[in-house]
Amino acid sequence: MTAPAVVVVGAINVDLVVAAARLPGPGETVVGGGVQRHGGGKGANAAVAAARAGADVRLVGAVGADDTGAAALAELRADGVDTSGVAVLSGVPTGVALIVVDDHGENQIAVGAGANAAVTAEHVRDALRAVLPRAGCVLVSTEIGAAAVAAAVESASAAGVRCVLNPAPVVPVVAQLLAHGPVLTPNATECRHLAALVDADSPPEGIAPRGARALVARTGAPVAVTLGGDGAVVLGPGEDPHHVPPLTATVRDTTGAGDTFNGVLAAGLAAGDDIRTAVRAGTVAASLSVAHVGARTGMPRAAAIAAALPVG
Ligand code: RIB
Repeated sequence: MTAPAVVVVGAINVDLVVAAARLPGPGETVVGGGVQRHGGGKGANAAVAAARAGADVRLVGAVGADDTGAAALAELRADGVDTSGVAVLSGVPTGVALIVVDDHGENQIAVGAGANAAVTAEHVRDALRAVLPRAGCVLVSTEIGAAAVAAAVESASAAGVRCVLNPAPVVPVVAQLLAHGPVLTPNATECRHLAALVDADSPPEGIAPRGARALVARTGAPVAVTLGGDGAVVLGPGEDPHHVPPLTATVRDTTGAGDTFNGVLAAGLAAGDDIRTAVRAGTVAASLSVAHVGARTGMPRAAAIAAALPVG
């Protein structure tokens, strides 16, 4: 690849998925039909979403030197993702997510981080150094270690490359990175938690969740908050919140919908779209993605996103 437009820094997992009538409560066992194995991890999922949306994508992260890691990399390459920034580490297993999906498409996820927790700041800095001059957007998510997250955001900022920071999950290092001006993409809960973490809050503004305005003030950049079945809202400095409605969707599995949003958003920004246009494409893609079980199964390609975008 000579011109990667989107660089994704984040986790790579294999997802073991059980579809059951409902999610188990604490101490409870539910029995589903069987176990499905899917590619997962918020970084890898977003990389696939961006690639299917038409971007050149390089992924930076780590897998273990095991069969699971080899299969994960082969699957990513088959989806057109450049995995040359993925370290293959001995002595740690590839990340695994245990997922239960219920009849309404809701999920419950527990992640064994494995190699994702071993991604170093040095690895991220080295991997980014080679590609940042050609990158249009760096997308970072927080299922990897804090030092690696910080290295990614700081490197993008130093190179003047737009950075999208998906604080999923919200971890303390995110608060220290706001001054670098990333585009934040929390969901409504993460938005509240993040605002509380930086000791800032603001009342809900119409559809904008509590804390969104305060985060914009900290970053000086747009914040796009995903609202699940209600679409997304985006606001930038000095702007009124702008609501982006979802498509009417058949919901079988919401796993990876946020990753789809982030990958397609990053692809749009890298291609030169303005933030509202990129949020619209991300929201439409996320709506399409939930119709199938598996984080990546329903992720749409560029033509399907374009066909589903509302006219005007
Ligand atoms: O966002 C969905 C992802 O979260 C899953 O693919 C799972 O691997 C966890 O990382």
